[in-house]
Amino acid sequence: MPQLEFPNLSHKQSYLDMISEWRSFEVPTSPGKLFAGETFEEFLATVTKDVIANPDGVNSHLFFFVEDERILWAIQIRHSIDHPRLIEVGGHIGYGVRPSERGKWYATEMLRQALLEAKKLWLEKVLITCLDENIASAKVIENNGGVFERYAYRDEVKYRRYWISW
Ligand SMILES: CC(C)(COP(=O)(O)OP(=O)(O)OC[C@H]1O[C@@H](n2cnc3c(N)ncnc32)[C@H](O)[C@@H]1OP(=O)(O)O)[C@@H](O)C(=O)NCCC(=O)NCCS
Repeated sequence: MPQLEFPNLSHKQSYLDMISEWRSFEVPTSPGKLFAGETFEEFLATVTKDVIANPDGVNSHLFFFVEDERILWAIQIRHSIDHPRLIEVGGHIGYGVRPSERGKWYATEMLRQALLEAKKLWLEKVLITCLDENIASAKVIENNGGVFERYAYRDEVKYRRYWISW
């Protein structure tokens, strides 16, 4: 069973393998912080700092899901959405599964576990948005009790807005 882990120095090789796989498959988008920095050390400094002080936005936690020292997926939980880039499209949570591990129901399970972490951060409900055409992500959200609110647009691109509350 994959374990939820906060990024640390021990993840360096697995992180580099995953990023290389991801970049050769597609232009990575989500979770945005997973791709921060030019090096692993810069990435680590960014996610560590963001837990307590993100000068450009809101604070967040980024977690890896690791099995046998291999990072399978990552998820970012923002502590608030009180920011123009998040409040309409963006939301509290972003996630991604490395390409070779997709279609195994991992994202559904990852979001389930991340919602437990969101509760620990005192969030009472979370906004999750996805591209209207991202059927897999919409299903992951719906599998976890997401209630569709409405469509939203950023740069004329259509997104779905979902809320999960508990
Ligand atoms: C979206 C993403 C996280 C889904 O991860 P995943 O582990 O493959 O998802 P799951 O295996 O849990 O599948 C969830 C559902 O989506 C369906 N699904 C998976 N891939 C699909 C695809 N390419 N097209 C349509 N449906 C798909 C599954 O059949 C499953 O459906 P079910 O609930 O009816 O059984 C993954 O594709 C990804 O990382 N994409 C790139 C980043 C991204 O888009 N992140 C989301 C940003 S909002």
